[in-house]
Amino acid sequence: MCGISGSVGINDISTALFEGIKNLEYRGYDSCGVALMNGGKIVVKKDIGGVEEFYHRENVLRHKSKVGIAHTRWATHGKVTRENTHPFTSCDKAFAVVHNGIISNHASLKAQLEKEGHRFASNTDSEVVPHLLEKFYRASKDVETALVKTLRMLEGTFAIAFLTAHQPQHIYCAKRESPLMLGIGDEAKYVGSDFNAFIDQTKNAVIIDDDEYVILSRDSYVIKDILTQEEVSKPIFKINWDSEASKKGGYPHYMLKEIYEQPQTVNNALDVDEKSIMHIVDMISQSKNSFLVGVGTTFYVAEYAKYILSNLAHEFIPSVSSDEFIPLANVSRDSLVLAFSQSGETYDTLSAIKHAKSRGAKTAAIVNVMGSTTARVVDKVILQGSGPEISVISTKAALAQMVIMTVVGLKLGLKKKTLTKKSYAQAMKALRELPGVIQGILNERSGFIHRIAHKYSGIKHWLYLGRGIYYPIAMESALKMKEVAYVHAEGMPCGFLKHGTLALIGDGINSIVFVPPKEDKTLYEGTLATVAEVRARSGFVLGVHFDARGKNKNLFDEELILPTVPKIIAPFIHLVIAQLFAYFTATTLKRNIDKPRSLAKSVTVG
Ligand code: BG6
Repeated sequence: MCGISGSVGINDISTALFEGIKNLEYRGYDSCGVALMNGGKIVVKKDIGGVEEFYHRENVLRHKSKVGIAHTRWATHGKVTRENTHPFTSCDKAFAVVHNGIISNHASLKAQLEKEGHRFASNTDSEVVPHLLEKFYRASKDVETALVKTLRMLEGTFAIAFLTAHQPQHIYCAKRESPLMLGIGDEAKYVGSDFNAFIDQTKNAVIIDDDEYVILSRDSYVIKDILTQEEVSKPIFKINWDSEASKKGGYPHYMLKEIYEQPQTVNNALDVDEKSIMHIVDMISQSKNSFLVGVGTTFYVAEYAKYILSNLAHEFIPSVSSDEFIPLANVSRDSLVLAFSQSGETYDTLSAIKHAKSRGAKTAAIVNVMGSTTARVVDKVILQGSGPEISVISTKAALAQMVIMTVVGLKLGLKKKTLTKKSYAQAMKALRELPGVIQGILNERSGFIHRIAHKYSGIKHWLYLGRGIYYPIAMESALKMKEVAYVHAEGMPCGFLKHGTLALIGDGINSIVFVPPKEDKTLYEGTLATVAEVRARSGFVLGVHFDARGKNKNLFDEELILPTVPKIIAPFIHLVIAQLFAYFTATTLKRNIDKPRSLAKSVTVG
């Protein structure tokens, strides 16, 4: 996935373009480039590395312009080199193009174009676009005609923006599957992969749908359908995030800032309107053969949802990772597919949803980004209101989705009478106390966790162990350690250990065990049994538990003692601890926290 942005204005737009592409860097940060219209000529600057260092090294901001496009790359086709960095130009340099997505028929198009004499400078799929535009412009002498002919040749996914010397006052863009939206300002118009591209300039956004193209100028914009070339009118919607929210706010990293925002995001999750929650509850009750879907962190949210719906409402719904959904899930008209997605743009999750819709299934989703594709294609969406999540490492969004699914489980349990009004009320009270409990952990335990993380930052292999609902928490926690600290970590159900993996214990693999509160008797005792198993083989155990100091003196090699909390919120406390542990391990190992290698905030390609 990449980030594309563009600005065309009455005045100089080069700073706005810089701010916009910088805000999109979480979408990919292998390399970066810009194309600026200057006196009817296109100036292209590009190189490998992050946006800020590139702009500084190339002194890009000395180039003033009223029309420009930019790109930040997450490589899919072609190595991370300067040649494979966007923008790409046509042979005559009259077209400069940035692209996000994958053009699946690029090889055959390239072969044909090379036969016709076009010379290619990169090994990417994207570079076919400027050469196609040049070819069709030569024949029609009309940019719009050349654009439409080019788009009709492309197979696969794309969000494209380009400048052309033939119409220097315009930006042309088009979309199929990869996200694209416009920013409508008074003195300028903007285009971006998401609204962080222009949130510093305007809150007025227009979402572009599949198979549409746009001609953008400083005072106007026109949206047309690629097939019919008929004009399409679209509503302008107001972005309800302020640009400050997507800044670091004095924190060293977005990941830490977003961990510290969790008391507020949990409150926002608990404030989701009752009607929407009950809508999901009814969809679950009315469906058979349903599925919980997500990928990466949101797959572990789906796993958590599976446990909480079963625990609270005796409703077993399998969770399936989006990337495996189509080959695995037997979806029918009676099915509900409930998806989880922070960005709402993850290709695998969208494909699962579209597959389900094609089978007549009901679809719903819990999503953070309003106006995202997932939010618009499902039958019912819950917007979780966690605010912008910029760090590639998802923290607050995942916790908020788990909290919302806990409320869904409680409501469903009440409806199915698997829960009494009293236990429902007690659980809701505990959830309302969760923000305060998390705040306490952040204030009082961060220092200790930092010290432990520093002490064990040399450990190469971690095994995260949890039983029952703590198993998804263990997996998500292991993922955090892998994603941000690049340390090998594996999440595993406690009971599973003795059936194979126990052979590894004692050989440089350390274990972190999430011990439930004593109140959760079966899980508590079962988990302590696993701790004994590991210790019996001289395995190292860091125990995260709620027991009084000294109670388990000899049970753990290291312990992190937490204030006792009601069992319904205990898994969340373990998760916050694990987020901090991974974060501090990564800072100790001097990792690039907000831009971990080879990852991107959400992957919009298959
Ligand atoms: C990956 C991100 O690309 O996509 C993960 O690195 C994320 O952090 C996963 O969990 C799913 O993204 P989303 O936006 O659909 O929740």
